Amino acid sequence: MQDRILVTGGAGFIGSNFILQQMRDSSQFLVNFDKLTYAGNLKNLASIAADARYQFVQGDITNRREVSDAFRDHRPRAIVHFAAESHVDRSICGPEDFIKTNISGTFVLLEEARAYWGELSGSARDQFRFLHVSTDEVYGSLGPNDPPFSETTQYAPNSPYAASKAASDHLVRAYHHTYGFPTLTTNCSNNYGRFQFPEKLIPLMILNARDSKPLPVYGDGQNVRDWLYVEDHCEAIATVLRNGKPGETYNIGGWNEKPNLEIVQTICDLVDEIKPRKEGSRRELITFVKDRPGHDRRYAIDAGKIEHELGWKPKETLDSGLRKTVRWYLENAEWVADVTSGSYRQWIETHYSG
Ligand code: NAD
Ligand code: TYD
Repeated sequence: MQDRILVTGGAGFIGSNFILQQMRDSSQFLVNFDKLTYAGNLKNLASIAADARYQFVQGDITNRREVSDAFRDHRPRAIVHFAAESHVDRSICGPEDFIKTNISGTFVLLEEARAYWGELSGSARDQFRFLHVSTDEVYGSLGPNDPPFSETTQYAPNSPYAASKAASDHLVRAYHHTYGFPTLTTNCSNNYGRFQFPEKLIPLMILNARDSKPLPVYGDGQNVRDWLYVEDHCEAIATVLRNGKPGETYNIGGWNEKPNLEIVQTICDLVDEIKPRKEGSRRELITFVKDRPGHDRRYAIDAGKIEHELGWKPKETLDSGLRKTVRWYLENAEWVADVTSGSYRQWIETHYSG
């Protein structure tokens, strides 16, 4: 069997960073199985599109036939499952796609992967892995003095997005427990970096700051997130795939807890530094807007298990990672123009219309 990994959702933010990192740092063959929703963008992967080690397949994880064809045609030795609907605000406005893709899609993938694994033998069967990429949002919200989420924290999802990811995590767990299927689950904190769709906090703020548009901070801006640079997340996933123990879950985080307002202020200062404007500091663009319904107050990850057991820890500091990210968005106006046309504009107009 060729050393090939099937990546679902590889045209999205984290998936495309993962594929590019694997292509750069290993001799891995990769198949990218992606539906290309509004969040998927093949331009992220243009630099490797013609590489013989990489292949793209347009497909939907909720479509059994397309998924089983992908297993039959590509015979992967592992799956890294990123494909999902991923934006909390969209899940509040329209949860149905989240239920379909995140729950039913993961179920279809598990079923087809289990059937495929059932036909393997010897070392191919022993070494097969299904790595499910999940989120810290499944654990719910922390109080100011609570310890960070660990792998044994009780699930308490609060948004339709978080609930759909929690359901998929439970299915993955059950497939290991019931069938001995070799699963790995990672629960990661908020990512940032290049290729993130600008509906999420950090790229939205960079681009609005660039264009001197209002910077819409929800509520009082004191909600806390634990930020991790996307390349660190991708390395953590590769580490878990290589050395993680089947059936285990691993929390991944950056040890970088920050209130949203502080993140937005830092972005303003970085954009001012790189692209000064005569009207003065971009901090003046900060506008407090109506809070997100059910907005989780604080997320924080205890990433001790993956550090002690597998030797992974983040390399990038928040300062250096944010600087790289701001610079990337300011230098890649063509990518930005490409993803912010059409349906993106409609989302921004309806969501932020007061
Ligand atoms: P994203 O929204 O940028 O990308 C999702 C990708 O999945 C897109 O390329 C899209 O086309 C594809 N996709 C969606 N529905 C599909 C379907 N039915 N079939 C096939 N492909 C489909 O998401 P992201 O931010 O890169 O997140 C990737 C994964 O990581 C998700 O599972 C998410 O829950 C998880 N995660 C994200 C973060 C974060 O901060 N972004 C943090 C922790 C975990
Ligand atoms: P987001 O990037 O949507 O990630 P998540 O909800 O998965 O954590 O949001 C990060 C934080 O930023 C979250 O507390 C909501 C807040 N936020 C704003 O204040 N304004 C915005 O316009 C957006 C998109 C998010």
